[in-house]
Amino acid sequence: MKKRVGIFVSGGGSNMRALVEDMDATHPAAPVVVVSNNENAGGITWAQEAGLATVVVDHRPYGRDRAAFEGAINEALLPYDLDLICLAGFMRVLTAGFVTPWRGRMLNIHPSLLPKYRGLHTHTRALEAGETEHGCTVHLVTPELDDGPILGQARVPVEEGDTPDTLAARVLVQEHKLYPAVLRRFTAGDSTPLML
Ligand code: GRF
Repeated sequence: MKKRVGIFVSGGGSNMRALVEDMDATHPAAPVVVVSNNENAGGITWAQEAGLATVVVDHRPYGRDRAAFEGAINEALLPYDLDLICLAGFMRVLTAGFVTPWRGRMLNIHPSLLPKYRGLHTHTRALEAGETEHGCTVHLVTPELDDGPILGQARVPVEEGDTPDTLAARVLVQEHKLYPAVLRRFTAGDSTPLML
């Protein structure tokens, strides 16, 4: 039986798309639902057009009550009976209350070579620090932000004249290779780090 995957997005969803497109008949997992906090997320439109189920839970009415927001997501997810969650550019911090029951079953992609540059603006910070290489990481999610066991990393060179945008674009190309490759291995039972 294929593992049932839910993918969480907030924006364009290019990583979600790379994951969905890789989950063909040979894959141990299948995409079951795409979840977003943002009804205008490009990723939601693409998922709907691809015939995938979607769930939108707007975080704004919940204000600072993250537990209530997360409770609403959990409730909306119940019918999908998920085995795994892939965070793919999901821009809300999830609390321990949500994350802990998914320990070992929730993945995230982060645009830096963790443990460097947790949090936001990773490309700007890498450039400001004079890094000569940068990249992305797929890791298991723990309650600590952008922490947890590393399942894979891909590296890119920082080039002369790079701006945060040019560097982000170079990293994103690698994200689209790394995340599907890691998900395929992980769902086949291999948690050893993949280094691209
Ligand atoms: C990616 O760089 C992802 O790592 C990050 O936000 C970006 C999302 O891009 N945290 P997309 O929505 O997958 O196109």
